[in-house]
Amino acid sequence: METAHRTLTLAPSLLSADFADLAEDIRLAEEGGADAFHLDVMDGHFVPNISFGPALVKAVRRRTQLPLDIHMMVSDPGRYLEAFAKAGGNTLAMHFESSGDPRKLTAEVRRLGAKPGLAVSPDTPLSQVKDLLPLIDELIVMGVYPGFSGQTYLPATTEKIREARHLIDAAGGEVTLSIDGGITLETAKVAAEAGASFFVCGNSVYGNGRTPQQNLQDLRRVIDLAQR
Ligand code: DX5
Ligand code: ZN
Repeated sequence: METAHRTLTLAPSLLSADFADLAEDIRLAEEGGADAFHLDVMDGHFVPNISFGPALVKAVRRRTQLPLDIHMMVSDPGRYLEAFAKAGGNTLAMHFESSGDPRKLTAEVRRLGAKPGLAVSPDTPLSQVKDLLPLIDELIVMGVYPGFSGQTYLPATTEKIREARHLIDAAGGEVTLSIDGGITLETAKVAAEAGASFFVCGNSVYGNGRTPQQNLQDLRRVIDLAQR
């Protein structure tokens, strides 16, 4: 099995945090060693759920210096790139399935001073995004169908992460490989072994009755071991 020590990023997903006490949940995650925050934007059209938009990203930006990874689960991402970049998003990850002209949109994200990313839903084969790797900074492999936190990791994801790792390395290795959805201590290990380096963690940080600090420490330990 391929093992390589990669820069590990733990990115709590604020969708699973307490919206009435976001500042405190951000602070607790920072205390626990979070490296970034993941923000799930949902429009009720591309996905069945509705979450939040640029106003919340702007509010979060005021509470943390950590990078903000904006996951845009929306039908027409081009309409909102400027708003999310201005709100303080560092990476703007669009879904391949709704990105229309990804070349144009990734260029637009760079023009706005942010990093372009692409997310791929479980049914989208990587062969469709392979040629776009030189244009992006982050590839998000979804471990669940996008729309809700707290879902179970789909087993086929692991092979997809392995394939993505291979494609990224073959293309020069500059793209951050993220796994989003269904991450637990067990699946974090499996995804790390398969080559993921950026871990989006919703319920495994905020939703299991333990503190974010305890959860982040345990996730880091498991992933560190898997990368040895
Ligand atoms: C799902 C979102 C995820 C979600 C992850 O559509 O993209 O970021 O918040 O939550 P967990 O880690 O609980 O699966
Ligand atoms: Zn997400």
